[in-house]
Amino acid sequence: MISALRPLTRIGHWIATPVLPESYLELINPLLGAGLRGRIERLVRESDRAVSLEIRPNHQWQGARPGQYVRLGIDVDGVRHWRCYSVSSAKAGRNDTFTITVNAIDGGQVSTWLNCNAQVGMVVMLDQAAGDFVLPQGELPKLLFVTAGSGITPVMGMLRAMAASGQMADVVHLHYSPDDAHNLFAEERRGLSLAHGWKTLDQLTRSRGDQHFSAAQLDALCPDWAERLAYACGPAALMDATAAHWQQAGLADQLKQENFRPVLKTVAAGAGGEVRFWNSERVAEGAGDKPLLEVAEQAGLMPKHGCRMGICQGCLVTLKEGQVRDLTSGEVFGESGDMVRICVCAAAGNVTLEL
Ligand code: FES
Repeated sequence: MISALRPLTRIGHWIATPVLPESYLELINPLLGAGLRGRIERLVRESDRAVSLEIRPNHQWQGARPGQYVRLGIDVDGVRHWRCYSVSSAKAGRNDTFTITVNAIDGGQVSTWLNCNAQVGMVVMLDQAAGDFVLPQGELPKLLFVTAGSGITPVMGMLRAMAASGQMADVVHLHYSPDDAHNLFAEERRGLSLAHGWKTLDQLTRSRGDQHFSAAQLDALCPDWAERLAYACGPAALMDATAAHWQQAGLADQLKQENFRPVLKTVAAGAGGEVRFWNSERVAEGAGDKPLLEVAEQAGLMPKHGCRMGICQGCLVTLKEGQVRDLTSGEVFGESGDMVRICVCAAAGNVTLEL
């Protein structure tokens, strides 16, 4: 149906100028408009804070590998917001539907909105999948997954994909959640473990008083951890602890991490400056370690953004004057006309942004 419309679209460009035919098609069916979009086909309530959305993308979708993420855009109160969500389904090919699982986080505008308002039939904006938090190609080595909370979602995609394809793998999965009610996919994961001989080690840190991640705990639960290719995904504390542990063991290249937040460096206090927002004629004080996106928001602006982690490029703003510090690398840079990711850059002295 969609591909049959393409020749018509080309002809339509001739007769519908200056209004593009995509605009007319969009009125009839929002999936047929310009750009990558998807329709929510099914909702599954996973917990009181998490919902899985099965999405049918339009013909522009190029597919995702298990473990990758997609950028999803929605309009809330007339403002478009973009966020990144991991694919949690086994399949996400060009002609497949795919699933993301959205965990409502405290203060998370988009995740909370989706949990409360997402409905079957709703159309969302999408970007092509990205990320290298994926399984290696070919024969799989021994694997260890360490996840916490919604960090389970990319790993769930990998587990489901391995199960669906019948790929043989030696898997240990250590997952942390506060209690049974928030232990995502617990039943399904136990079933997969039984069926495939995997080892699932659920740690309920609040209800059962299990311990959070530590080197000693890892040694006890998975003595051969150093022989495994490891994947970690979860909150900052887990990311820091696993990174430090693999680093100390000299095995940093055996650990893959998927971060939900930017990996920022500590920068000297007092190295910021005055931030001028040229278009909106506002001025604010920008600390040397504070992302310019936050400075702008606190000044009452609503800059476009997506991941807030320096990945999606959804927050690029033109620098007019001054220099900025990239908080992920510590590098200070900037010439007039440079595009700056304001979610991970801070003022390095006085700075003017075209915003
Ligand atoms: S919001 Fe994604 S790179 Fe800044």
